[in-house]
Amino acid sequence: MSQSDDRQRDLIASLDFHVEAGLDLFLDEAPHDRFSEAEAPEPVPAAPVRLAPARDGPAPQRPPLRGADMVLADLPERGAAPPPPARTFGQSASAKPGEAAGDARARAREVQTLEELEALLAGFDGCPLKFTAKNLVFADGNPAAKLMFIGEAPGADEDRVGKPFMGRSGKLLDRMMAAIGLDRTAAYVTNIVPWRPPGNRNPTPQEVAICRPFIERQIELADPDLIVCLGSPATQTITGTKDGILKARGRFYPYRVGMREIRALATLHPAYLLRQPLQKRLAWRDFRTLRAALDGKA
Ligand code: URA
Repeated sequence: MSQSDDRQRDLIASLDFHVEAGLDLFLDEAPHDRFSEAEAPEPVPAAPVRLAPARDGPAPQRPPLRGADMVLADLPERGAAPPPPARTFGQSASAKPGEAAGDARARAREVQTLEELEALLAGFDGCPLKFTAKNLVFADGNPAAKLMFIGEAPGADEDRVGKPFMGRSGKLLDRMMAAIGLDRTAAYVTNIVPWRPPGNRNPTPQEVAICRPFIERQIELADPDLIVCLGSPATQTITGTKDGILKARGRFYPYRVGMREIRALATLHPAYLLRQPLQKRLAWRDFRTLRAALDGKA
């Protein structure tokens, strides 16, 4: 292998690393120490060069952004930092998270089937996560099942395949289901957020709020008898509890769909169980509760 082949391979590996870490936009050739620079901001190049989607096909279209909007719209948010007011959400340059959530709610009401909802999501540009994800991750399993599992957000494996719970967490979820005699033909599986947050960070409260009307409509259309919320974000979003998952788990919460009340059981997320295997005993208790509920005994 020549030196230039080596260099090219290193460059590609470095690009892959940065894209995987959530950095999806090329801003400049040289790094800048913004903290030691004078007050006056440097002009920002007019048109961003997108890194992430280029690997798998054409980048989604959206109007060019300028200056601070461009930087804030394209760099991933981290942790709990409040969103800057100038941030642009999705294609509509004026859309704020609240407006995007309102738009999502109005559109979600219009669809009558799960297929229509999936198509709506595929064309919805109001959530910034869409622009860094490779694929929409809508659902897996049996939409006619009476049991629905709801996780948090897709990871790298799910983003690649376009289906929820495909990676290590998914394998563990499958084993947990098998332990009570279930597989994915007996359950419908989805997440509260259908696009992978860059670098596997948690979805922000704004992103969850924008996607919430869609998961609510998905529940309405799938019409399960029982929901299992996997982990704290799914539990808090679906049940409205503020309790942490170790307190909330093992309990049934009422979930209203029109006149109907569905029961939602909170349990630990498989990803947490992979990190804390001793806690599997708690999840096992919850899954036995789930089995009893399916058998009409709880
Ligand atoms: N974790 C989730 O919450 N959902 C997935 O689909 C995969 C991992």
